[in-house]
Amino acid sequence: MLKKTYYLHSYGCQMNLADSGILSAAMDRAGFSAVLDPADAGVIVINTCSVREKAEERALGRLTELSQLKRKHTCYVCAVGCMAQRMGDDILKRVPEVDFILGTERLFELPRLIAAKEEGNNGGTVIDTAMTDNLAFAEYPPVPDNPYSGLVTITRGCNNFCAYCIVPYLRGRERHRDPNTIVDEVNQLVERGVVEITLVGQNVNSYEFDNVNFPKLLKRVAAETDIERIRFITSHPKDLSDELIELFASEPKLMGHIHLPLQSGSDRILDRMFRRYTYDHYKGRVQKLREAKPDIALTTDLIVGFPSESEDEYNMTLDAVREIQYDAAFMFRYSVRSGTWAAKNLIDDIPEETKLARLQTLIDLQKDISALVNQREIGKTRTVLVDGTSRRDASIWKGKTEGNKTILIRSEQDIKGRIVPVTVLRADSWTLHGEIMA
Ligand code: SAH
Ligand code: SF4
Ligand code: F3S
Repeated sequence: MLKKTYYLHSYGCQMNLADSGILSAAMDRAGFSAVLDPADAGVIVINTCSVREKAEERALGRLTELSQLKRKHTCYVCAVGCMAQRMGDDILKRVPEVDFILGTERLFELPRLIAAKEEGNNGGTVIDTAMTDNLAFAEYPPVPDNPYSGLVTITRGCNNFCAYCIVPYLRGRERHRDPNTIVDEVNQLVERGVVEITLVGQNVNSYEFDNVNFPKLLKRVAAETDIERIRFITSHPKDLSDELIELFASEPKLMGHIHLPLQSGSDRILDRMFRRYTYDHYKGRVQKLREAKPDIALTTDLIVGFPSESEDEYNMTLDAVREIQYDAAFMFRYSVRSGTWAAKNLIDDIPEETKLARLQTLIDLQKDISALVNQREIGKTRTVLVDGTSRRDASIWKGKTEGNKTILIRSEQDIKGRIVPVTVLRADSWTLHGEIMA
């Protein structure tokens, strides 16, 4: 007998995490309950990422490891999401024990497909990577990622086709959800106790539905729901409008953090990446953001070792990082993704040792900048959403500031799930430490 329990783990970006929330809702509806230990699960699901080779290796490794559990108890192992979309039945060459391979638009069908398999209607591995152009997933209000903070998908897919990026091939073209559905979903999350939402899409700035653009959608969510905090991810610098920037000054529910991927400080590399902005344009946007909200937290993504990147061009990325002073950055070395424009047309000519050395220098530089930027938080009082306790010490509370920084708080009171004013006492590159204002 198959246990009606499931274990679900997500790799990759917030889009994937949001999809996992929708899949959880579909599994719950079908009578399954979530477990934290895969050894207790009748259904084991890995929601995969393909953005870099390393992400795929990690997911394949985890699937191999979890497949061993099939020897001990009856269970299905499922690979869903981006890597399932990209590799399809090739996954079986690496992990033959996988029972379900469902792509980015098909993962929500998992409970129905399991029921069919249980009735003997489909033998062997079930593989479905068909692309759809609808938004069928909207029928499920997602299970929030944590009890206080939820993700709401506003667009699926991407139309940008950055030269290096596999995402548009795996998630299809942009489709925007009806703002009424989005507002309803936020209200449902609020009813369940969620106080903060993040609106997610690969490029939220291009959102458009019946003359509602992204800033208008944000205003509607702020005005028509009781949600207390609003965030969004990700913004493409070429589409970041003045109208949106002004909301950081005028909309108190909008938290002071923006993730604005720069990728490179060199205009020639940006052009080859098809990013369609220059470093000057980017800097101008940052300046405007800081004028609108002086203490806005700014994070980014950077790639080193893109084909033909010279030492000088790499140095421009370092200079940009020094000049802009990001709060934090996600930094990667270029990874060839077959099928992309860069894979077809450019030679991956930067040696692996050079890429690694460039990455390490960049990481070290950003670590020092993050420490410095975080030092400036000392003495300030920030409103913090407390979402749990420290992983290392359960007597210390953990939360997120408006700027999305992790802060650890000593307090005797039970403050879980509350939004409290916290004064910052200490800071390092990754974490702030503080105490509650009397
Ligand atoms: N939609 C988001 C990014 C999604 S992918 C945006 O446009 O900002 C997240 C990050 O992965 C990208 O910003 C980029 O920095 C990195 N990335 C994507 N493809 C990559 C590749 N082939 N090699 C290395 N890094 C890559
Ligand atoms: Fe990839 Fe560019 Fe689309 Fe982001 S905007 S998902 S980097 S193609
Ligand atoms: Fe990865 Fe897919 Fe997101 S490839 S970064 S999980 S859209």
